[in-house]
Formats: sequence, structure tokens, C-alpha cells
Amino acid sequence: MVNSIEYDLIIVGSGLAGLRAAIAAAKKSSKIKIAVISKVQVMRSHSVSAEGGTAAVLFEDEVDTIESHIYDTIKGSDFLADQDVAERLCTEIPKEILQLEHWGMPWSRRKDGRVDQRNFGGYSFPRATYAADKVGFFEMQTLYDTCQKFDNIEFLNEWYATSIIHDGQRFLGITAIELSNGTFYTIKAKAMIISTGGAGRIYSYSTYALSSTPDGLDMAYRAGMALKDMEFVQFHPTGILPSGILITEGARGEGGYLLNKDGERFMKRYAAGKMELAPRDIVSRAMMTEMNEGRGFHHETGVDCLKLDLRHIGDEVIKEKLGGIREISLKFSGIDPATEPIDVRPVCHYMMGGIHTNIDGATELQGVWAAGEAACNSVHGSNRLGANSTSECIVWGRITGELAVDYIQRGIPSTPFPLHLVDAEEKRIYDGIFRGRGDVNPYEIRQELTDTMNDKAYVYRNETDLTAGLKKLRELRDKMWKHVDDKAKEYNTNFTNVMEIDSMFRVAEVVLIGAINRRESRGSHARTDYPTRDDVNFLHHTLAYYDPKEPIMRKHPVTITKYKPVERKY
Ligand code: FUM
Repeated sequence: MVNSIEYDLIIVGSGLAGLRAAIAAAKKSSKIKIAVISKVQVMRSHSVSAEGGTAAVLFEDEVDTIESHIYDTIKGSDFLADQDVAERLCTEIPKEILQLEHWGMPWSRRKDGRVDQRNFGGYSFPRATYAADKVGFFEMQTLYDTCQKFDNIEFLNEWYATSIIHDGQRFLGITAIELSNGTFYTIKAKAMIISTGGAGRIYSYSTYALSSTPDGLDMAYRAGMALKDMEFVQFHPTGILPSGILITEGARGEGGYLLNKDGERFMKRYAAGKMELAPRDIVSRAMMTEMNEGRGFHHETGVDCLKLDLRHIGDEVIKEKLGGIREISLKFSGIDPATEPIDVRPVCHYMMGGIHTNIDGATELQGVWAAGEAACNSVHGSNRLGANSTSECIVWGRITGELAVDYIQRGIPSTPFPLHLVDAEEKRIYDGIFRGRGDVNPYEIRQELTDTMNDKAYVYRNETDLTAGLKKLRELRDKMWKHVDDKAKEYNTNFTNVMEIDSMFRVAEVVLIGAINRRESRGSHARTDYPTRDDVNFLHHTLAYYDPKEPIMRKHPVTITKYKPVERKY
């Protein structure tokens, strides 16, 4: 007999979007029973690693306007953003910045006491609202603290959600494992918000926490919801060597230079108007080109890199505004950026794709919303501007939290709970994985899978590499790796690792097929064999639906309101 618990609203994922959703829902109704479910403790959610800023127009005047933020976002997206969604983001976020301030967020200040903002790539004005270079940590702390004020928010920390239970039309609950003791549960609920973040750990060189695997995306995908635009993976220009930990774009926003081995600020040859503050796709491509053409440095780990030089910014500014990355640099690379340039190269940082939603964050399954990086409401199109991600989490956290409560309050007819689906899920997990057999080491398979994504689907792509990557991925998937040697019930990380790999294979396959099919270059998706944007054939979103044989791929229109796609120039 499976243990069963019940809530009105469950929020899977405890990062910025999840916490903001919980607060919005709890504020709207004190009667709704809410659970925030996460496979990690709240303050270990990957959102705490956000560094540089949250984009917003705070002081609209004759110089900076919300309209300009909207246009920068759409232009940055290489015109694949849904323009109504970009407008919603830029219109809503200023209120949220103020709301965070009222909840205790320690935004950095100007000398006159106003909230400060720094420059970020692709923007016409400084809009990255910041708290030194620990924005995510402070935002998370502010939201987590605010959650404590509500009696109807409960946290199920270290619970691994495995599958969504539904009747074909409507959401009914999920299955989950309490990791501290290995107990399998049914969690019944009326509505759900998926806010499990991105899936960037399908790449080995990545800024993401090791926990950022596609479990949430995969859960939605297996339940019949489409994954959208997964071929668009963002590579942040400055991952520090050797670990790949993020060195914030704020470092360039504060004036940092990128240098090649000739000591040249090479960005002048790629984006003379914006230099190091061009959008990320452009800077990352420029860096790869510099290295591919022999103008990189050779790092002791065997890879090429470039230098990020902050010395001219001065010790005082580095300590005050970039103290976090100074510490990272010292601890993980042995370099003090005040006295020596940092070794960096482009690193997997964000996924523009995710669970297909509409402008309100509603998915294709009634009763399920998605918010934050797990969602693809198409606000970022094919390339996100830095600092628009934490903005998105906060805006759609609030929107989906409120809409889920509206839905619950409208009343939902009761349906018999399909226990046979829970049985099937228990079998999938315990017979198919926990008691699975095989002699192939799953940790090695995980490494090979993520290395394949690095080798075959990185900044520059082509048909030959992508097709070889897909073949390799399928060969790896078909090996006998799905087994758990450690039979412990408590905190069995051997078990969770295998479950994560299972989801990584399905989602990585969608990334590769989407990238193969998109025979053009747009935003973060740069095909050397199709080097130009092709609006005639590819001005559309990609949808992938789950099928046990292989994903079913479809097209979805882009919403264009008033900004005609033009060539991007910076
Ligand atoms: O560079 C950064 O601080 C990253 C920000 C972002 O991805 O939005």
C-alpha cells in the first residue's frame, strides 16, 4: 500500500520561481494548503548561485523606458521571443523589484541612496539591479524568509518527484520519494507548478549545480506536455577554469576586458558598438573563434581559454561589487583578479527551452503551470539577455501562483484517483531501476553522456557532429547502466544518480534532434553549415512530444506584435 498525502497546490522546485509562486498563492488564500517540494534543501536550490543582477527599468524617464527593455529583449532573442511575453516581463518586473525591497532585499545603492543598477550585455542602459555579486543568494534568502510568514506553506525538502499522475486531461497528483528514508509516496493535489529550473548538467562544462538535471522537464514530457525550443542552449562567455563556475557578466558590466593571447580586446572585431557587453551568444561565438583560430591561451588542463582582465577596475570596486567572484577565483583557480587576469571560456549556463507554456505559464495539461527556467513561455526566444532570468522567475512565479489559486477556487470536480498509474510508476522505478541489472557503471555513462553534449552540441554545431552525437547518445542509453548497486533506503545517492541519468537521456535527445532539424543559425544556435538566420523556413518554435520510440517534433508560431524581425547589429 503506497503512502499518500494531500495538498491543494504543490510547487515542485524551490528556487526563485517556486518560492515566489508559494508566496503569491499563500497571499491570495490562507485556506489553500501549499507544499513546496524539492530534491534539495531550499537554500541549496541553484537560484542561490545567480550572481550579477535582475533586469528592470526602475527609473523610467526620457532616457530609459520599458519599451526599450522590451525591444532589447526581443532583439537579444534574435526575434524568436514571443513579443507579448517580452512585454509582460518588462512591464511587471519593476513592481517586483520594489516588492523584494519591501520584503528586505538588500539591493546595492548609489551614493544618493537610490537602488543601483549595472550594465549587462545587450541592453541599451544599465538595468541589472544587483546586490554586490550575490543577487540570487539574497533574493532566495528574502523570499524564503517571507515564506515563513505564511502558515499554509509547507516545505518537503529532499523529496524527489518522479512522475505526474493525470487522467489524460487534468492533473491529479504526483509520485515522489522521501530521500531521507526511501519511502515512496503519492501526493494528491488540485494544481501544480513546475519550477525545477534548467537542465544544464546534461553538459559537463557547466555553471549549474550538480543537481540541475532535467527531472522536472522529463516528468512533464512523459506526461504528454511538449518541451519547446530545447535546441537553444546558452553558453555564458565566462566560466572560470578548470571548474566552469560562473564569473558574472557583472565583471564586464563593471568594466572588465576580454583579451586574447596578443593582449587584444578582440570584441572590437565582432561587436564594436558593445564590445564585451554584446549579448552572450555573440561574445561566446567570438571567444570560440579566437581560440579556434589560435589566439587563445593554452590552459594547464589541456583546453584553450581567454583572459578576463579586471585589474584596471581597482581593488576597491572588486572587493565591494565583485567580492563573490574574487573569492571564487581565489579558491577555485588560485588567482586574485585584482592582480592577475582570470582564465575563462564559454560554459553551458542556461536553457532558453523548457516546458511549453502560454503567456500565463499554463501548460497543456489542465491544472499544471510552469515558471522560471523549467518553463518555456518564449520570453527569451533563441538567446536570453543576462539578468532577464531572475526577472522571469520572479514575474512568472507570482503569475502562476495566483492563477493556480484562481483555478483551485473555481472548484474542481472530483475524479477517482487512478491507482493503477501509481502501481505502474512504482514498478518503473523499483523494478526498472532500483532492482535493475547490468554491468555498466552509471557514473561513467553520465560522464560520457555529458562529454558527448560538450563535444557535439556546443557553441558551434553542424549536421555531422550533431548526428554523431545523437548516435552516440542512443548507444550509451541502450547499454546496461540502469542498475543501483547500493541498496540502502536512506539518502541513496546511487539511486538518485541513476534516476537523473534516465531523465538526462530523454531530454538530451530532444536537444540534439531540435538542433539537427533547425538548419539555420539563430541566437545561441550557431550552425557552421547553415551560418545565417532563415526567417522564411525557421521563424517558428520547436515542440517535442514524448513517444517511447523517438520524440515527435512539431512547429509552433512565434507571436510578433509590433517589432518586425531585422538583422541584429551591435
Ligand atoms: O553573469 C551573470 O551574472 C549571470 C546572470 C544571468 O544569467 O542572468
